[in-house]
Amino acid sequence: MKSAIITGASSGIGKAIAYELAKEKYELLLIARRENLLNEICEDIRNKFKTKVNYLIIDLSNRNSNFSFIKDYFLENYDNLNILVNNAGIGYYGEIENLRMEDIERLFWTNLFSHILITKDLVDIMKKQGFGTIVNIISLIAFFPIKKWSLYASTKSAQMGFFKSLRRELYRNRIRVINVYPSATETEFFNNLNLPYRFPQLDKPEKVAKKVVKFIKKNKNAEVFISPLHWLAHKLSVWF
Ligand SMILES: NC(=O)c1ccc[n+]([C@@H]2O[C@H](COP(=O)([O-])OP(=O)(O)OC[C@H]3O[C@@H](n4cnc5c(N)ncnc54)[C@H](OP(=O)(O)O)[C@@H]3O)[C@@H](O)[C@H]2O)c1
Repeated sequence: MKSAIITGASSGIGKAIAYELAKEKYELLLIARRENLLNEICEDIRNKFKTKVNYLIIDLSNRNSNFSFIKDYFLENYDNLNILVNNAGIGYYGEIENLRMEDIERLFWTNLFSHILITKDLVDIMKKQGFGTIVNIISLIAFFPIKKWSLYASTKSAQMGFFKSLRRELYRNRIRVINVYPSATETEFFNNLNLPYRFPQLDKPEKVAKKVVKFIKKNKNAEVFISPLHWLAHKLSVWF
């Protein structure tokens, strides 16, 4: 059986990817904090797609979490690990004077360090089996500066840099790396950020998820933009 692990699968883009992969008959292991949502999603996926799906409650925002439990649980309950989706992430909007060390740590643990530690554990499974795909949900902000988003942007640029280099390291192991750069997407992401404006055009998370699965099926390394306009924006970003 094919299987996938998705972090941040209780809402938004991660949830939409879970449904798209369930349609393709992947067995799923979903990770997030909100158990009620994960429970509902698992039941719904089991009913609709008759595929195996379980969840783990893990807080990715600090060093005390038991990241290695994901690998142990997976090895006991699943066969091959085809896909790891590093999707969990949170935003931060504000001026530099207001930045607290705890915000910096929370952002970097959730958006970067947890992905690195989880990938480190799971790459071992992919290397042994001789294949696998790592999908990283990054953000167009890795290329495109926006004022007062500097902390968030720094986590996303670092995520991009880490996984672009890792792609080269893992190529001979037949492990592919797909980096995805969504722009503003209609999810819970903006809920607690107290933004004084709204992004004019929001993509649907389902659109992002469909694009992700389309590229997973190609079984190639890829840099994925959700629309041609986003691709153009990233090309022009050298001027900003
Ligand atoms: N929405 C956008 O405009 C946009 C644009 C570009 C990139 N992105 C990226 O897309 C990814 C998904 O975000 P989204 O837009 O789908 O937002 P979302 O609906 O808020 O989803 C975020 C997911 O991450 C999980 N998460 C957050 N903090 C966590 C923690 N400490 N431990 C474990 N899980 C945690 C959340 O689950 P729990 O709360 O249940 O833990 C949730 O499932 C993020 O990496 C984000 O940076 C979003």
